[in-house]
Parts: sequence; structure tokens; C-alpha cells
Amino acid sequence: MIEVNNLSKVFGRVTAVDNVSFNVAKGEIFGFLGPNGAGKTTTIRMLCCLISKSGGEARIAGLNTSDAADSLQIRKLIGLVPDNVGLYEELSASDNLDFYGKLYECPADRRKENIETYLKMMGLWEKRDQPAGDFSKGMKQKLALARALVHDPGLLFLDEPTANLDPEAARLVRNLILELKQQGKTIFLNTHDLDEAQRICDRIGILSTKLLAINTPEELTSSVPGGKTVIQLERIDEAMLNALKKLKPPNFSIEENRFLIDVADPQKENPEYVRALVAAGGNVQFVTRSNPDLEEAYLKIVRDNR
Ligand SMILES: Nc1ncnc2c1ncn2[C@@H]1O[C@H](COP(=O)(O)OP(=O)(O)O)[C@@H](O)[C@H]1O
Ligand SMILES: [Mg+2]
Repeated sequence: MIEVNNLSKVFGRVTAVDNVSFNVAKGEIFGFLGPNGAGKTTTIRMLCCLISKSGGEARIAGLNTSDAADSLQIRKLIGLVPDNVGLYEELSASDNLDFYGKLYECPADRRKENIETYLKMMGLWEKRDQPAGDFSKGMKQKLALARALVHDPGLLFLDEPTANLDPEAARLVRNLILELKQQGKTIFLNTHDLDEAQRICDRIGILSTKLLAINTPEELTSSVPGGKTVIQLERIDEAMLNALKKLKPPNFSIEENRFLIDVADPQKENPEYVRALVAAGGNVQFVTRSNPDLEEAYLKIVRDNR
């Protein structure tokens, strides 16, 4: 659905996006994760044909974002919720959608139907005649989402759609995104919320001007070493603690009746820990491995690339 090859953007002396390549498949929720100034918004704006690129190539559904004729077609295939939601404050919710629908040449009957469908989906139908300026942040975000959908695009670009929302509103928007995926839409999501990315994205690209990593949330977290071995015992006593210390693990902690041990080479070290604990009278109930979470993986990937 999206094919990006060696895409770059330079503003004067600032390189905002440096030689980035990736693909997004149809039906996927793809998350672009990165710190402020990483180039996330710039990338979305290039993909939506709003700004020109400095190098490389980006295609949407096979169409070239740099080609004038193609970009007119691309605009009809995509919906965008920009970082600054940008609604017409004095227009009613319904008129905001109608205006955009006309702009995207969505036929009148289809427009009417979609305005109703999406305002209902966002829980705003009852408020359709109120000016957007009266809406709360969460309601504006939902209205912007409805606006992005009014011309039936298959591909949605969402630029930090839950930033500045309270947890309840953010959750609602996340659930709506998942619902849109169920309807077969492809979603490109900019976020700096790791938890959000982990929860809803099928794949994540970590951007910091360059693309540092790209994978499923699971693979990203397990690609980072530093997992812990968790040994759960019936109970922990002094003798077991001493037995463990004798093996000099670089770092370990105790949580209830579990040892959490940093291991570099689990295949070699785990049996040694288990043997020592058993010899000290320990009843081993479980031996598991806890992977670092996405936050740890993200921080490590970003740090390693500084
Ligand atoms: N129109 C512009 N003119 C000059 N510099 C820009 C412009 N837009 C973005 N930048 C710069 O490009 C970099 C990436 O910005 P942006 O894409 O907004 O990052 P993000 O969305 O990840 O926070 C930043 O250094 C920013 O200052
Ligand atoms: Mg941004």
C-alpha cells in the first residue's frame, strides 16, 4: 500500500528525514515512533503529497507522490488527521465534514450517508449541528477522524491522534482505530506513546531522522538483549539467597518468591542457577524469561544510534 525508498527531506541546513525506506501492507496498522523532531510529521506530509521530497521515492497504491497527476489520485485514496487538527471552528460538525467531502469530490448522496455513518461511529451524531469550536479536545479529535473518513479512503494517516487527550478519550480513539482496521483500512500512525504503539500496531518503525529499526512490537522487544530469567520458588530463604550470590550474577532482584536475574547466556547460566537453588533446598516451581518491554527496547535503540 505504501512503498518508500531512500526518502529524504532537507529544510535548509536541517535534514529532517534521512534516506528512509519501508513498506506498509494493506490492512496493517503501522506505527511511526520517535522523539520530537524525529521527522514523523515531515514523512506523513510527504506521503500525503503536501510537501515535496528532497530525495528518494514514495508510492501510495503504486502511484508516485511526486507526480502531479498521481498526487491528485492519491489524495482521494487517503485520509489525514494532521497534528494540529485544523477544523473550521465556526462551522457545525456536520458542515465541517460536508465541506471536506465536497473538496474530495465525494458525491452528494454518498457524502450524506458517510457523514451520518462516521458521526455516529464517533458518538457525535447528536451534536452534529453544534459548531466545532464548542467541542472538547477529544471531540475535536474524533471529528477530525470522521472528516478524514468522509470520502471513503482506504488509507488513513494519523499524526499523534491521542496526544493531549485524557486517558479515557485516548482509549476511545485507539478503539476507533482498531475498529477501522477491522473494516479493512490501512493505518499509518505517528505516535510517541510507546504503550499505544505496543498495544495497537502490527509493526513499528523507530524513526530518529533515520529509520533505526522496523519490526513487530514483539520482535523489537526480544531483539534487545537484557532479558531476565525469572525463577519462582515455593519460598525463598537465606540459604537460597547465599547460594545464588555465590554464582555472582551481575544483577538480580527478588519479587515475592521469585528471583529476577539478569543473564547474558541463559542456556548456560540458567541450569547453574537452578542447580544451586535446588541444592540449597529450594523448590523450583517455574523458570521463565521476561523480555524487556518496548520502552527498554526503544530507549536502547535510540541511545545506541546517538
Ligand atoms: N517547514 C519546516 N521548515 C524548517 N524546518 C522544519 C519544517 N518542518 C519541520 N522542520 C524540522 O524538521 C525536523 C523534523 O520535524 P517533524 O517532522 O515535525 O518531527 P516530528 O513530527 O517527529 O516531531 C525538526 O528538526 C523540525 O524543526
Ligand atoms: Mg510531529
